[in-house]
Amino acid sequence: MCGIVGYVGPRNSQEILVSGLARLEYRGYDSAGIAVVDGSGHLGMRKRAGKLQRLRDSLADDPLPDGTTGIGHTRWATHGSPTDANAHPHLADDDRLAVIHNGIIENFADLRAELEQQGYVFRSETDTETAAVLLGREYRASGGDLEAAFRAVVRRLEGAFTLLAMHEDHPGLVVGARRNSPLVIGIGDGENFLGSDVAAFVEHTRRALAIGQDQIVAITPEGVAVTDFDGAGVEPQAFEVSWDPAAADKGGWPSFMAKEVSEEPEAVANTVRGRVRDGGIVIPELDGLDDLFTGIDRVIVLACGTAYYSGLVGKYAIEKWAGIPVDVELAHEFRYRDPIVGARTLVVSISQSGETMDTLMAVKEAARLGARTLSICNTQGATIPRESDAIIYTHAGPEVAVASTKAFVAQITALYLFALHVGRVRGALGAEAEAEAIVELEELPGRIQWILDNEQEHIEQLAHWMADTRSVLFLGRHVGFPIALEGALKLKEISYIHAEGFAAGELKHGPIALIEPGQPVFVVVPSPRGSATLHAKVISAIEEIHARGARVIAIAEQGDTAVLPKSDEVLRIPLAAPLFEPILAVVPLHVFAMGLAEAKGLDVDQPRNLAKSVTVE
Ligand code: G6P
Repeated sequence: MCGIVGYVGPRNSQEILVSGLARLEYRGYDSAGIAVVDGSGHLGMRKRAGKLQRLRDSLADDPLPDGTTGIGHTRWATHGSPTDANAHPHLADDDRLAVIHNGIIENFADLRAELEQQGYVFRSETDTETAAVLLGREYRASGGDLEAAFRAVVRRLEGAFTLLAMHEDHPGLVVGARRNSPLVIGIGDGENFLGSDVAAFVEHTRRALAIGQDQIVAITPEGVAVTDFDGAGVEPQAFEVSWDPAAADKGGWPSFMAKEVSEEPEAVANTVRGRVRDGGIVIPELDGLDDLFTGIDRVIVLACGTAYYSGLVGKYAIEKWAGIPVDVELAHEFRYRDPIVGARTLVVSISQSGETMDTLMAVKEAARLGARTLSICNTQGATIPRESDAIIYTHAGPEVAVASTKAFVAQITALYLFALHVGRVRGALGAEAEAEAIVELEELPGRIQWILDNEQEHIEQLAHWMADTRSVLFLGRHVGFPIALEGALKLKEISYIHAEGFAAGELKHGPIALIEPGQPVFVVVPSPRGSATLHAKVISAIEEIHARGARVIAIAEQGDTAVLPKSDEVLRIPLAAPLFEPILAVVPLHVFAMGLAEAKGLDVDQPRNLAKSVTVE
């Protein structure tokens, strides 16, 4: 939540900041603002409630003076409603100092009371302004040493924060700190960048440095210095950003979501690429880590949102191929009970952003309890992989739309690679089963593409007809069950329609009472080739709801004629082995949710109240 960007260098920082914010807007879009220090050492600031476009319009009408040092922020409101006053940056020290922040400062009320008692006046309801005012006080006390003042401030803050600050006395200097919120450094030639993630600066440089927990960074055009909160030097970890800068642009698509759904085949292909060698799965990142997989008797998968549903699918594959019991749990639930976890537990976290606070905290808790940890993540340099013993990156490329799509199919793919790898290492998986799974993995991109080429128009038309629908139900069974949950989540997120996903077997235990004439129900139908019994049971479920007036939209493999008599619509997917069907069956549901939101005239990429990366609890 909240996107942060900083720049120092020879160029006018405004355009760099605003275009960086555009790439970070997925992190929050309640307000946006920038501050720059101009050539004469004067600090200028502009901030506006609403989406970034309102800030752009304001800057176009009434430009700020050019400045080569700057910071920018896009907000997802926590403390204080999304108003101009609560937008960042927040100023202090007679408006000569600017601060931006991502996270929650938990002891802000005490700090604010202390400062108010000393006569300091506040202009917003935010926790951030407390840090700004405190920094102003410490700056004066230090005799104008911004870095020393900044260290004094961060040592007093509790909670989660990424803070950036600059002062007009120090043109060419931006200082930043992080605790449990993200911040990465971009290294340019004679210029340097800071960002909540690499998307903020990838169009300028691919050279990056990761900053650890409780560290401070100072960037100038000439260099970067990283220390801990006490000022002791730290060597940051360098990495090369593999994302193509163009990948974070809409590239002619009407929305990022449309582009990202179109990239689902590629997301799967890129996640598999380089990980099949001589007919076997090889995950180079896991070289030398066999003991992580042999010394365990249990896997716990932790994630939130869409990533959690990918974990639910992954459970079937891990248990089948690796022969280890798997529990899949929402990260925020795991943290606040007394989980029984130890050295023989491998915790697999799944997170597109690698920054979801609940997932991060759950991973830390698991590690504290002695578990080994593996992160499945899409974002290089993110916090969760850095906190884990092992990493498998999904190579879906940058995902910008708030609703996750291509990352979801990539996550399931990575979980399958993981399951196959662990199965082989543990001796649980035969060579034939591995070879069959590899063929299926390699066929997936073409099969997803087939759905997009042949069914997308049909699904969009259906979505258009259903634009006034007020409630949609989703049923699935076995690996189709998490897909029903994902279909419902996607619809809620971007169409604001009531949607629920159910296990088809659960129908008679309650949900069937919801069926009334005209109720639309999507049913994910398993292949009869996998299990004739499961297939027959889902067909029975279709008959039961159809008999009660439901409007049935079946997602079924090509050639499955059993669905025809009682389905109002059939969306076809190509034939695949049963475990691989979810990666296909979800595609029509992503297209449907997007089509319905578009038919309702909604902002598909930036749905109300949400942010892509939930970095607060
Ligand atoms: C938010 C997003 C979801 C996402 C979830 C987990 O809720 O809106 O789309 O699935 O966070 O995000 P992560 O980055 O951890 O995968």
